[in-house]
Amino acid sequence: MKDMSMEDNRNLDLLASWIRESKYTVVLTGAGMSTESGIPDFRSKDGWWKNIDPTTVASTYALEKQYDLFRDFYIMRINTLKYCKPHFGHKILADWEKRGLVHCIATQNVDGFHQEAGSKNVYELHGNIRTVRCEDCSDDGKLEDFIMKKNCSSCGGRLRPNVVLFGESLPYDDLNSTMEAIRKADLVIVIGTSLQVYPVNQLPDLCKGKKAYINLDIDFHSKYFDLALKGKAGDTLLNIEKHLTKY
Ligand code: APR
Repeated sequence: MKDMSMEDNRNLDLLASWIRESKYTVVLTGAGMSTESGIPDFRSKDGWWKNIDPTTVASTYALEKQYDLFRDFYIMRINTLKYCKPHFGHKILADWEKRGLVHCIATQNVDGFHQEAGSKNVYELHGNIRTVRCEDCSDDGKLEDFIMKKNCSSCGGRLRPNVVLFGESLPYDDLNSTMEAIRKADLVIVIGTSLQVYPVNQLPDLCKGKKAYINLDIDFHSKYFDLALKGKAGDTLLNIEKHLTKY
């Protein structure tokens, strides 16, 4: 863990006081929340999109026109999950929910780690890759059938994960609930996202309260936040927890 400067400690103290005073806090996470669990993010130097064009594997075009490539990509991502687990940062957020310090988490992540770590109020804005459905008849499919490259057992159609592909709209209920929560929030804490993807990158601005950003790279977005902490999600959440419990 890196040495803490005076400014770091001041910022951690400030965010801890905002969390204590807030009556309604929303956390918004991205792929940077899961890299410490061993899952690559998308746009960092060793992220998924460094060597893969997302439109060729994670879009409605890929699903329609190159299903084998689409399926191989998601089978690989599903299999990656088998060896990865939520880290202590996920567990801290779940504990903050239990203690009434966080109202809900809206995540762009599809790994289910917030729920696995114990968070109950989670909105999956980009769906998940833990369940599948048939693209042709919409019946729920079996994840094992998808991994084994079998077709839909009801109609013989193409199985696909319940992930939001480029070109698809976000799940209405999750997005609506997230927007309502952020509009009510005294505090929104954005963790581990480049905020490059619409419409999630518009959500923090709905907050009339305070906005904090925790990210390895804060240069581009820090001016849009009341507080920006440069650092790893897990370490920073652990340090905030220490400041929350030191009084
Ligand atoms: N701690 C904090 N920040 C981190 C960490 C970490 N351990 N690891 C990476 N980051 C930061 C990176 O610096 C980057 O700014 O997290 C951010 C991850 O950004 P992206 O890779 O763009 O991921 P995300 O913002 O979640 O992407 C949004 O794009 O491709 C689509 O559907 C996909 O949900 C995804 C969406």
